[in-house]
Amino acid sequence: MKFKIIKDSNPKMRKKSLHVDLPLSKEDKDALDEMLNYLKLSQDEEYIQKHHVRPGVGLAAIQIGLLKRMFVIYYETEENGIVQYQLVNPKIIETSVRKCALANGEGCLSVDKEYKGLSHRYYKIKMQAFNALTNEEIVITARGFDAIVLQHEYDHLDGIFFYDRIDKNNPNLQLKDEELI
Ligand code: NI
Repeated sequence: MKFKIIKDSNPKMRKKSLHVDLPLSKEDKDALDEMLNYLKLSQDEEYIQKHHVRPGVGLAAIQIGLLKRMFVIYYETEENGIVQYQLVNPKIIETSVRKCALANGEGCLSVDKEYKGLSHRYYKIKMQAFNALTNEEIVITARGFDAIVLQHEYDHLDGIFFYDRIDKNNPNLQLKDEELI
């Protein structure tokens, strides 16, 4: 692996990532390919044992030191099969009133410390982006877990961590109209 995942102690992680020029440069596409490949490997039992990595379902460019508005997603669910994207210049264009949170809390490849508590998210979002995997502008409608993953990665583009969304005084407080997943 050519890159190293940078941690939340690095001040760079708090910066706002910059708009990416399209058509995508070869360097940017290569970076997205490597990031997606890394996520796939991070979910491979043998690779995990050998390289002591943690499994991840999403990775933003800033996590490998690139201050660019792009991230990758890779995971498999029973309902949807493989969910994978290479999203560039994503925008959240719609959000629900209803909220949701992962009952066991979120994790992040850039965060070693465990933070207990609910990271409050929108239950449903619409995200518009250029998907470099299929080379087209797309609008994703996502709910529940899918929506949480997209919002977590999107936050990285603005220098926000999942623990910023936990209420410090009442970390397990479930909001009105919030579904725990
Ligand atoms: Ni993260």
